[in-house]
Parts: sequence; structure tokens; C-alpha cells
Amino acid sequence: MKIPLASSGLRDADIEAVMRVLKSGNLTMGQEVKKFESKMATYLGVNHFVMVNSGSSANLLMIEALLRPTLSKPQLYPGDSILVPAIAWPTTIWPLIQLGLNPLFVDIHPETLAIDLDSAQALIDTSRIPVRGIFPIHPLGRAIPPSQLASFTAKNDLILINDVCESLGSWSEGSHAGTQGIAGSYSFYFSHHITTMEGGGIATDDQSYADDLRSMRSHGWSRDRSDASTWTEQKSTNDSKFLFVSTGYNVRPMEIQAAIGSGQIDSIEEFIARRREIARRVSKSIEGGNLELIGEETLKTNPSEHSWMLIPLRVSGEDASQRKQKILERLEALEIETRPILTGNFLAQPAIQRITRHAVDPMHFVHATKITNEAFMVGAHHDLTNEQIEFLCESLAEVSKF
Ligand SMILES: Cc1ncc(COP(=O)(O)O)c(C=O)c1O
Repeated sequence: MKIPLASSGLRDADIEAVMRVLKSGNLTMGQEVKKFESKMATYLGVNHFVMVNSGSSANLLMIEALLRPTLSKPQLYPGDSILVPAIAWPTTIWPLIQLGLNPLFVDIHPETLAIDLDSAQALIDTSRIPVRGIFPIHPLGRAIPPSQLASFTAKNDLILINDVCESLGSWSEGSHAGTQGIAGSYSFYFSHHITTMEGGGIATDDQSYADDLRSMRSHGWSRDRSDASTWTEQKSTNDSKFLFVSTGYNVRPMEIQAAIGSGQIDSIEEFIARRREIARRVSKSIEGGNLELIGEETLKTNPSEHSWMLIPLRVSGEDASQRKQKILERLEALEIETRPILTGNFLAQPAIQRITRHAVDPMHFVHATKITNEAFMVGAHHDLTNEQIEFLCESLAEVSKF
């Protein structure tokens, strides 16, 4: 039985919403996007949500708006160093490099898979590199506790930008992941907690930052800003419909994406409950074996906080990396798709080795290396049927004896 890592997530109602929008003739960013943004801001408990065409674009805009704000002084300058985790997604790192910043890699914590703040502190204390910010990933449906991030950033005078692309619906200490600091990015790519097919967005409480994000997602245009009329009055010689006030890209979402998103976000709790059920059943099926569900303890301590993007599993015992290969072969033979934890140790990827000025030996990051060698993931998509979950659990029980 095929157990995919992801499934389309689209329901009949979502497809009907797409048809309704297509027939309306309003295709490019408009009222549907506004409606979805307002629903997302309410859901996350933030003042502003700015939708874009992917989580990657959300990361790009978050950084652009810190480097080239329209009304205030930049919060970042080219050359500034930003702490990032060694297990990362490419488009957490690329916007920093593309916009002239210096990603400073830090090992991950082996239990949470998030950036290890003790290692980050050690790096700050021992290196002479002045650090300006931290860009943590809230990994795989698990929020980094905001109090830990707040004390770390306060102690070191850092700005905080969050990559929450894998963790919509997760929360900690009473607030949604990524809603502290300057902003947080989210992804609605089709395997994620909700889908807009492709899509993403940024949550922030800061009005002027949100205005810049709105300009920057659409060529630098003034149109979508809350202060659009002020710009028009100041620049009365320009046509107010064609007033450009910042740098920009075209990373606008489409109306059909937002229409799907508006329906999906209404069901998010149901989706996450199903994902949690899958995690619970997997955890039970591998009890007493040589596989460990990473993050399992949250099922007992704070189950409702973890939104389980995928199922990360660690092989325990002797020769774990060799046994992992055998496990993967067996699972693939059973048509159960597997994948590494994000990209594995990102420092071991050819692109990062080629382009960083001071390439770091990937082996320097002990936990990231161990996780890459000894852990893997299977799907936790809320569309999996009971039969699929049962088959997944039986198969994992079998390979946990390897
Ligand atoms: C941590 C992280 N950041 C960014 C992204 C990019 O999101 P998107 O695929 O919507 O561009 C992903 C994708 O899954 C991700 O895992």
C-alpha cells in the first residue's frame, strides 16, 4: 500500500471555491487574498498577515524589508551576521546570502531539532564576529518556546525573524509559533498543515513593516499600503495608480490560492488532530523497538502544542546509520516514502560549500551530522486513511526490530 509523504489536501469544497473564483473573472490578487489575510491574522493573533506565492518568497521579503525599509532606518545592513540552524531549508538560507548577509550556522538540539541556543551562545561568546540577528526554524510542527528566544535575543541584543514554514498550528507558552520578534513566515505548499497549492505569508504586528512587505511583494507599489494616500499627496505629480515607493519583486498570490486557503484554515484544528493521532499511533507501534519518534515526549507533556508536519524517526542502538539504510530499503520496498530530516546537515550540501566564504566542515555540527545519518521521516498527512495508518504502523513495527 502506497504511503506518500504528502497528499494534495484539496477537498471538493476547495475545488468549488476555485471554480467560483475562476468564473468571477477576478484572478489576480484582490478581495479573496484580503479575506484570507484577515482570517490568518485572526488565527495567529497578530495585527497583520501578508500573503505571498510561497514560504520561500515570505522569507525573501522578510529580509528585504529589514534591509530596505521605506520609512525608517534599516535594521540590517549588508555583511551583518545572522544565526541559523545547521539543519535548515535552502530558502531559509538563500535570502540571507542573496541579500548580502552572512548566515552563521549553529548546531541543532538533538531532541527538538531546532537551533541549539546554548551552542549559539557559545559561538557568540567565543567568536569575534558581531551577530545582528537570529533566524530560527520552528521545525516540523514544533514551536520553540518564546521565553527561550526572548531571553536569548535580549541578552545578545539580536533581532528575531522566524521561519515557521513547517509549523503552522503549533504553539508554546500560549502563543502561536513565530508570532514573537519582528515577523514569522508560513508555507501553504500542498504537503503542509493547510494548502493553497503553492503559497505562503508573513505574520507581523508592525504596521510599517507590513506596509513594506505589501509594497515589496508587488514591484514596490504604493497601492496596498495603509499609508497609500499619504504617498499620493506627497508625490502629487506622479499618477497615484503608478506610484512606486520601495524595492520589490512580483511574489503576489492568486485569488484561487487565497480562496482555497480561506476554506482550509477553517479546518486546521481537525487536520492537526488527525496528524497528532498518526503520531500517537506510530509512537505506540514502535514501543520497545529500535526506532524512536523524535518529539514523542510532547504527546504526553503538551500534546495540543505540536502540529506534526511529518513523522521524524531516529534509529537507536549500535550501527544506527547502517541499520537505517536497511530500514529505508524495506520501507521503500513496501511503497512507504521516506526522506531526510529537512535536507539533513545543510552544510554538507554542495551549494553551500561552494558559495560561503568560510565553508565550515559539516562534521563540526555533531548533532546535525548524527541526525542526518541516523534519522529519517515518513508522512503524517491528515489525508492518510485508517488503512494507510494501520499499514504504516505495522511496517514501522516490523522495521523497528531491525
Ligand atoms: C523551514 C522551511 N522554510 C521554508 C520553506 C519554503 O516553503 P515553500 O515550499 O512554500 O517555498 C520550507 C518548505 O517546506 C521549509 O521547510
